[in-house]
Amino acid sequence: MNTANQGGFPAADEGAWGGAPLKRRYKKLGQRLSAIAALVRDGARVCDVGTDHAYLPCHLARSGRYGQIYACDLNPKPLEFAEKTIANQNADVILLQSDGLADVPPCDDVVIAGMGGELIAEIVACMPEAFKSANLRLILQPMTRAGHLREGLAQSGFEIISEQIVREGRRDFIIMYVKVSGSA
Ligand SMILES: C[S@@+](CC[C@H](N)C(=O)[O-])C[C@H]1O[C@@H](n2cnc3c(N)ncnc32)[C@H](O)[C@@H]1O
Repeated sequence: MNTANQGGFPAADEGAWGGAPLKRRYKKLGQRLSAIAALVRDGARVCDVGTDHAYLPCHLARSGRYGQIYACDLNPKPLEFAEKTIANQNADVILLQSDGLADVPPCDDVVIAGMGGELIAEIVACMPEAFKSANLRLILQPMTRAGHLREGLAQSGFEIISEQIVREGRRDFIIMYVKVSGSA
């Protein structure tokens, strides 16, 4: 699997640090990650695949509205970065090294964001069977090649429930909400 940090996306350039010193350890999510967070269902076991900075899972953990939250990444540097964020925020997030979902326990909601559409399609295609229940929801945010991802999803047995476009700065981001084909 391609391990490149695809999409040319500056991961540490998201949103702004909050004002008062005591709040500094928490990072305000930008429009893109906020829109993704809004799609995660209350009570869901969640995994953020390719978490990098782990801002999204730490934000979810602070709310206390979700089941177990996992953050995973393939690469050592992002894992170090994520570990620091999780420790700084004392967040209840389990950090795992995993190629896609290969080493992640089954979850209800899976976020794969900030990567190229081809890599997201590949991660979805390699998803362990144990994830593929009718309850599974994928929240996908490709930086490139959304058309390729749509085709890949259909070929892998998934169907897009809805899509939205979110503007952050001067850039538009597509967010896809996806389920197993034919499931309720
Ligand atoms: C640009 S960052 C996106 C960070 C975050 N998800 C976001 O949207 O802001 C992409 C991350 O995906 C990770 N990655 C690349 N290939 C992966 C794979 N096969 N499995 C898990 N993580 C992967 C990279 O190491 C990198 O940390």
